[in-house]
Amino acid sequence: MLVTAQELFKKAKKGGYAIGAFNTSSLEITKAIITAAEKAKSPLIIETSEGEMNALTPAVAVAEIATLAKKAKVPIVLHLDHGKSLESVKTAVEAGYTSVHLDGSSLPYDENVKVTKVAAKLAHLHKITIEGEVGHIAGSSESHNHKIEISKEDLTEPAEAQKFVKATGVDVLAVSIGNIHGVYSNPPQLDFKRLEEIAKKAKIYFSLHGGSGIPKNQIKKAIALGIVKVNVNTEIRMAFHKGILHEFEVNPNEVVPYKYLPAGGEAVEKVVAEKIRLFGSAGKA
Ligand code: G3H
Ligand code: ZN
Repeated sequence: MLVTAQELFKKAKKGGYAIGAFNTSSLEITKAIITAAEKAKSPLIIETSEGEMNALTPAVAVAEIATLAKKAKVPIVLHLDHGKSLESVKTAVEAGYTSVHLDGSSLPYDENVKVTKVAAKLAHLHKITIEGEVGHIAGSSESHNHKIEISKEDLTEPAEAQKFVKATGVDVLAVSIGNIHGVYSNPPQLDFKRLEEIAKKAKIYFSLHGGSGIPKNQIKKAIALGIVKVNVNTEIRMAFHKGILHEFEVNPNEVVPYKYLPAGGEAVEKVVAEKIRLFGSAGKA
C-alpha cells in the first residue's frame, strides 16, 4: 500500500540501512521497480521528478502507482523529486503523493527558506513527509562523457544546514557532499567529513541524491554515517534503454510495444535489485 516515509526512515536509521528512491516515467519501469522490491522484501520509494510527473500526468501517476501499491507486498512511498516550485508541490500533494521534495537550492538562501517553509506547512497539513535541499546538487540524470567539477559554493555548509532545518521544519535534508546527478567519466568522491559535521549539527533524516555511478564502498560509508534515502535515476534510464536496444537487435521488426518493452523492464529490475542489496534494505519490509 501507499504510505508516508516517516516510519520507514525511523526504522532505517535504527537498522543502519537506507531505502532506495527510484525514479520512474513509465508503467514498465514502475512495475519493474515494484517487482524487485517485492522479491527482496524491501520497503520502497518510487519517485517522479516534475518532468516525469507531468509526462505521466499527476493524477495518472498516482492512480497507477497507488493501484499497484495496493496489491504489493511491501510498503511504497510515492515521492515528488526536485519539485522546483510551490505549484509543483501543491499539484503532487493534491493528486495524492505521500511525500514531496521542495528543491529551492537554486534560489538565494533566504528565498529557499521562505518557499520551503510554506511547502513544509502544506505537506504536514496533509500528514506527508517533506524533503528540503540546501547546497546544490549539480548535473542531470543522464550519461555524460565529460568530467564535472563541483564548485565549493554548491556544497552543503553544516551550520547552514542546521539553520535551514530549524527554520523550515523539513523532515529530510538532501545534502550536497560531492554527489552529482548523472553518470560521469570521473566517479564522485564524497566528502564524508562534511557529512559527519552536518549530521552532528542537524538532527534530521538525510538523503543522498545522484546515487548512480557512486562507488559501492562510498555508498556504504554514507549510509553508515546516517543517510536513510538514496536516489537513483540515471542507471535505471540507462538499463531501460539498453534492454530495449538489445531487444530490437534480436527482433528488429517487433512493433508491439507490450512485446518489446518488457526487455527494458527486466534490465531495470536487475539494477534495482542490486541497489536494494547494496543499501541493506532487503528483508526489512
Ligand atoms: O533526484 C534524483 C536522483 O538524485 C538521481 O540521481 O540520476 O545520478 O541516479 P542519478
Ligand atoms: Zn536528485
